Amino acid sequence: MLIPKKTIFVALFYQAMTQTIINWYLQHKRDLPWRETQDPYHIWISEIILQQTRVAQGLDYYLRFISKFPTVGDLACADEDEVLRMWQGLGYYSRARNIHTAAREIQTHFNGNFPSSYNEIRSLKGIGPYTAAAIASFAFKLPHAAIDGNVYRVLSRLFDIDTPIDSTEGKKLFEALANELLDQKRPDLFNQAMMEFGAIQCTPQSPDCNNCPLNISCLALANGRVNELPVKKGKTKIKSRYLHFFEVEYNGKLILEQRKNDDIWKGLFQLPLIETHNESPIEKNAILKLFKASEITHITLMREYKHILSHQHLYCKFYKLEIQAKQPVEHFIYIERPDIEKYAIPRIIEKYFEET
Ligand code: ADE
Repeated sequence: MLIPKKTIFVALFYQAMTQTIINWYLQHKRDLPWRETQDPYHIWISEIILQQTRVAQGLDYYLRFISKFPTVGDLACADEDEVLRMWQGLGYYSRARNIHTAAREIQTHFNGNFPSSYNEIRSLKGIGPYTAAAIASFAFKLPHAAIDGNVYRVLSRLFDIDTPIDSTEGKKLFEALANELLDQKRPDLFNQAMMEFGAIQCTPQSPDCNNCPLNISCLALANGRVNELPVKKGKTKIKSRYLHFFEVEYNGKLILEQRKNDDIWKGLFQLPLIETHNESPIEKNAILKLFKASEITHITLMREYKHILSHQHLYCKFYKLEIQAKQPVEHFIYIERPDIEKYAIPRIIEKYFEET
């Protein structure tokens, strides 16, 4: 699909659409704390949290994060473990690590001042085109359209576009279209309005088209294709993984280990783990080797969970284990049970402790 050549009529049509969405927003918007601030650091944190979770849950995380690290300098000075602890339960822990790295980049490359141009913001670790546009427009009123999943949905329906939103062609097309519609003088208001319109009015399932202020001009509605849009090209393949966790005490201390590899939960703490390639049971020898133990005195399967991440399905088994071992293992840490509170642990392990 090509964007219509911008005649005066097209320009006026776009302006009217933009104004309708902004008017709708002014009447229906939710009051959210990140909409009351122009602090780029606070806006950044809210945007990254909202990429992970819904507004209702994100609100709590946002308030806790900002109160723990009120400025970008506070975040830069924190330990990574503390940052991960604040992120616990949100998932995608690489985002928390990237935020931390970027805060340090701001200290070193920008003298501790949040950069104020789109390209500088975009240069920070973990900040892609969407987040850069959101920060640039909300904090600095720079004219960049921020295109998240909500905006893709609104545009694909209004203009009945079936170009996949996850294709290079689709990305270019929607970016061009959003920037055509963008209110150059009020990019902050426009971006918030588009996202909110997608989140509340033009919802993924069963949108209330009868009560939509744009139903007269919505091409997908006219063509009966609202429910088919937006189109996504390829669903990423889901990988199944089989994880066996062991709750073990050694000299009265609970054993944890920190995840080091570039994988899910990097930097978080977990119960010692053996991963198998399929559902087959774990080998006794693998357990002995993991704990440098001479004997397993007792093993009980306590819980089984299926834990769903965006690209992986985790089949988790939790065992209570007693072993005979002469020495501690170097890379394990041995903690007092109540101290587990102080560690960032994956949600599934937290759940195990809650339910056991
Ligand atoms: N989702 C992403 N950014 C958002 C924002 N600023 N307000 C509400 N929902 C959002």
